[in-house]
Amino acid sequence: SAQDIAAGERSWNKCRACHQLGETAKNGVGPQLNGLFGRVSGTVEGYSYSTANKNAAITWDDAVFAEYIKDPKAKIPGTKMVFAGIKNEKEIGDLTAFLKQFGKD
Ligand code: HEM
Repeated sequence: SAQDIAAGERSWNKCRACHQLGETAKNGVGPQLNGLFGRVSGTVEGYSYSTANKNAAITWDDAVFAEYIKDPKAKIPGTKMVFAGIKNEKEIGDLTAFLKQFGKD
């Protein structure tokens, strides 16, 4: 089924306590997430990652992001991201479409 950006924006409410997006995005509890897709994990400038996230050496694409967000601690053991995960594939797809609106610039 088609990805639903409006639904993805509602899902983003689960992330925004710790992450920012858009022109004014800054690092907070977690790194800012502009330009996530295509980037190597642990590389946002100025953010102090855990050793686990810094060394994960994964490139964020749709499949890798889906695995990660289902169960962050399974994909990156030792991550300091405290988040239970999103299990629903449709919700993950919608969130992915929403996040992709925010490029590097
Ligand atoms: C890291 C996404 C929810 C805190 C990350 C990373 C991604 C991500 C992709 C890795 C970034 C990178 O390698 O550059 C999301 C999404 C969320 C979410 C899409 C919602 C669905 C949260 C929440 C919190 C949080 C609710 C805080 C309670 C963190 C922290 C890190 C992180 C602290 C750094 C992890 C480390 O250095 O080990 N997040 N996150 N995130 N996130 Fe989240």
